[in-house]
Amino acid sequence: MRIKVIAGNWKMNNDPNETRDLISKLLAGLKNLNSTCEVVICPPYTSLSEASSMIKDSKIRLGAQNIHEEENGAFTGEVSAKMLLNTGCEYVIIGHSERRTIYKESDALINKKIKRALKNNLKPIFCVGELLEEREKNITEQVIKSQVLKGLQDFSLNDLKDLIIAYEPVWAIGTGKTATPQQAEEVHLFIRTLLADNLSSEFAENLSILYGGSVKPDNSKELLSQKNIDGALVGGACLNADSFISIIKSA
Ligand code: PGA
Repeated sequence: MRIKVIAGNWKMNNDPNETRDLISKLLAGLKNLNSTCEVVICPPYTSLSEASSMIKDSKIRLGAQNIHEEENGAFTGEVSAKMLLNTGCEYVIIGHSERRTIYKESDALINKKIKRALKNNLKPIFCVGELLEEREKNITEQVIKSQVLKGLQDFSLNDLKDLIIAYEPVWAIGTGKTATPQQAEEVHLFIRTLLADNLSSEFAENLSILYGGSVKPDNSKELLSQKNIDGALVGGACLNADSFISIIKSA
């Protein structure tokens, strides 16, 4: 059975005070919600502790936005998987396009980060997505295939049971331009088929694949009703409690 996941990627927003404010509103708005969908928030590192203590008796789960690929050591400025786990994180976003483009994270590095996360019992939300020029050149499937297979290189099926994939076309992130439900569904089906062919059809069938890229209350229902779209990774719209709640309710 695939789980439905709505995850909010706060990016570099919300200090501990703002975190308290946003989470209070989320807790109030979600109090009576009877949904099987997994709600995850991914605040910046400095707000994780605050978030963790506020949500501990709720259905909201905690995630981080990045991890370091090594267990520990002399890596100034970095945060390890174990630190995240012990701060209450269950999830971690890996390979977000902003990390790939701004911080030049390679597929090989992303592969190491996924390994480190899984080894420490953190559930990776592994992001893939094509650039606008790649879509225009009709090489979307080629790009996605390469990102998925390189990111998941050398894993056994057993290792990957907690994996979640997020398809986020880069041209749709923070631009207000969403992929149409059909465009998104096509790529989601492509990813599922790719993993069925390369790993196992049972694994592929049970894998949750989220869509990300300008998901908003007015487009979430249609996107989430597609057969192969199992949730959303939400950026901008998760910073406002009302809009994040309304996306959760549409799932
Ligand atoms: P957006 O961001 O919803 O603001 O487009 C999505 C993401 O970057 O995960």
